[in-house]
Amino acid sequence: MSATSSAPKLFQPTRIGDIEVANRIVMAPLTRSRADEARGDIPGSAMNVEYYRQRSNAGLIISEGTQVSPVGKGYMATPGIYSAAQVEGWKPITQAVHAAGSKIVAQIWHVGRISHPELTGGAQPIAPSAVAAQGQAYTHQGKLDLPVPHVLTQAEIAEVVQQFRQAAAHAIQAGFDGVEIHGANGYLIDQFLRNGANRRTDEYGGSIENRCRFALEIVDAVVAEIGAGRVGIRLSPVTPFNDLSDSDPQAVFGHLIEQLNSRRIAFIHMIEGATGGPRDVPGFDYAWARQHFKGAYIANNGYTREMALDAIESGRADAVSFGRPFISNPDLVKRLRENLPLNQPNPQTFYTPGPEGYIDYPTWDQQAR
Ligand code: PHB
Repeated sequence: MSATSSAPKLFQPTRIGDIEVANRIVMAPLTRSRADEARGDIPGSAMNVEYYRQRSNAGLIISEGTQVSPVGKGYMATPGIYSAAQVEGWKPITQAVHAAGSKIVAQIWHVGRISHPELTGGAQPIAPSAVAAQGQAYTHQGKLDLPVPHVLTQAEIAEVVQQFRQAAAHAIQAGFDGVEIHGANGYLIDQFLRNGANRRTDEYGGSIENRCRFALEIVDAVVAEIGAGRVGIRLSPVTPFNDLSDSDPQAVFGHLIEQLNSRRIAFIHMIEGATGGPRDVPGFDYAWARQHFKGAYIANNGYTREMALDAIESGRADAVSFGRPFISNPDLVKRLRENLPLNQPNPQTFYTPGPEGYIDYPTWDQQAR
């Protein structure tokens, strides 16, 4: 048997929708706050290109969250995908990733109420209902309390759906292989899904069907634009991140997944448990989701090498994504394949401008010399 065919399935090629990937290790979306904010939240500096190029051993890279409009921004120096200059900025990144043999989808993102006028050019953050999240925004003026958001009218909801559609079109123009719709972590789509933030009494609130409507309108618009085989969605049914909760996550996300099946999208990317925290949060059955969803299931949150190998061999997931390990181990696939030690990431440099903690983590070959 050749080395390739005897390798664990985690390291073997597969398809995620229309996207052929060289292995089943995915780089999770990671905010790094290193876009060119002064010129309009533009990605694509030499440093940004180098960061993604270094990590192109992943079968699939999911980009850092990229806002679909100026008011969709919730952190300093995150890149956008609504302007022509931003689309141009992404091109050298997707080219470098493809030249290295990997694939990359754009995570298209609207933060909703998790923002502040300091970050949106003065605009009031938006949300399904006038409920402020407990927490603070990180701005150039320091940490500021998250404000009570503007309640979206139905006409404004339709505009946001079109912004997601436009972002997906832009992603394809920029050379991405598809998109991941950010439906997780307490941002705008999740604010509609979960009743901790959605108090609406119109057809976008109340019943589970109504709370899923905004997410599904976005999915339908994006699918119409770029095709279902290039579309995925990130979900986090039970995370308390960004002060969001729901009274019955199994019912909400069970309904959503059944509706996604009829759209035939490529993947769901599931945060199992609390984002970046404990996995054993009750309220949702991930094995149920894996069995019922007809596309690829990408598992996320605190996976070790052994957990990932086991999840793929047992069929509990089609791929596994890694976030923080990819920050500090640009050659993570090699390290997992050869069971080499991992560098630990330094949280002090997660969001700082400049190359430190971004493109200066060594590969195994560099540090073994
Ligand atoms: C963050 O920037 O801290 C962040 C962004 C998006 C997420 C999670 C965390 O989904």
